[in-house]
Amino acid sequence: MMFKLVCINCKSEYSLDEIIYRCEKCNNLLEIQTDLEKAKELISKRTLASKPLSVWKYSDLIPVFDRNKIVTINEGGTKLYKCSKLAEELGIKKLYVKNEGENPTGSFKDRGMTVGVTKAREFNVREVACASTGNTAASLSAYAAKAGLRGIILIPFGAVAMGKLAQSIIYGAKVIAIKGNFDEALPLIIEASKSLGLYLLNSINPFRIEGQKTAAFEVCEQLDCHAPDRFIIPVGNAANISAYWKGFKEFYELDLVKNLPKMVGIQASGASPIVQAIKEGRDSIKPVDNPNTVATAIRIGKPASWKKALAAIKESKGCAESVSDEEILYAQRLLARKEGLFVEPASASSIAGLKKLIESGSIDKDEEIVCVATGHGLKDPDSALKFYQEPIVIEPRSDMLKEVIKN
Ligand code: F0G
Repeated sequence: MMFKLVCINCKSEYSLDEIIYRCEKCNNLLEIQTDLEKAKELISKRTLASKPLSVWKYSDLIPVFDRNKIVTINEGGTKLYKCSKLAEELGIKKLYVKNEGENPTGSFKDRGMTVGVTKAREFNVREVACASTGNTAASLSAYAAKAGLRGIILIPFGAVAMGKLAQSIIYGAKVIAIKGNFDEALPLIIEASKSLGLYLLNSINPFRIEGQKTAAFEVCEQLDCHAPDRFIIPVGNAANISAYWKGFKEFYELDLVKNLPKMVGIQASGASPIVQAIKEGRDSIKPVDNPNTVATAIRIGKPASWKKALAAIKESKGCAESVSDEEILYAQRLLARKEGLFVEPASASSIAGLKKLIESGSIDKDEEIVCVATGHGLKDPDSALKFYQEPIVIEPRSDMLKEVIKN
């Protein structure tokens, strides 16, 4: 077998034909292990060079068994932008932004969802569900629609950005809001999924990670077959940082790159249990009650994949940093105004974190750095309008217009 499903803690093995999210012995999360020696026979620089970037370009490294069942809306293949103006502003030499907002529903979630919903079809389930701060919900709703499955999403009432909510509604999912936060929603949907036989598509689902890791493959290819020195990424429920780390390690073990990046996780100050654990040298997190930040996507106090995220940061000799709402919004503006990239607040946290780490001397100015922009700015127009200057309103008069332009 090319793939195994294994507990991240006690290494117990489970069948890939089973719907299971946690180890029955120690209750830890599971992950897919790929036989990379076998994969070497299928994948090389030469085979990769002939195909355009996309999630399914790497199908040999994704545990899907019936390729006729693949549910795709052309996810992946997002651009890696060289951000010279922003680099100069921050005082570093080489900065790139991987713009995951270019995915079909405007966030990186589509990479995992194309795989997750394909697995739902392989498992012959009819209903898929998740708890979400908005983007997973939007993505699940779209892929469920495409696959003809019923999508059910549970979101924190009043705390999901308008664009994301509109997406889930338009795609036709069943949208349920709880009077509580994401950390309360997740166990509820896990329990409901178990009792009602819904297929759970939160990122504790190990197949989602297999899709998300392809963004790391793309970054390596976009940098002409090497990994950056440092990789900076927003952290919420803490799955994506581990997905990227898994991807970089697989490319390294496949001899497709010769180096590995230091992984840097960025959280908002009001929701930073991973950062606190790293800074205090702990092996586990202390959950944050009532997490709060303008970056609603990462307003999470009890990240489900904390163990995988701590491992990614430690193994890679990386670090973690928290950033205030002011720093996040400043970075959002800076990226838009220097590079023409409009990203949602959670995504801007990677730039805010980079700025803070440069200022504290934790990052060398010669390093090659990639920041991930996880979601599109149009997801959350409210925050842009709330925190920035309103338009100047004038009467329809030429003299007034000219006066305003001159000032
Ligand atoms: N950035 C954005 C835009 C997100 O939507 C999320 C997570 C993250 C970063 C963090 O990724 O959870 O893997 O650490 N959003 C989830 C959701 C929680 O429900 O949409 P993570």
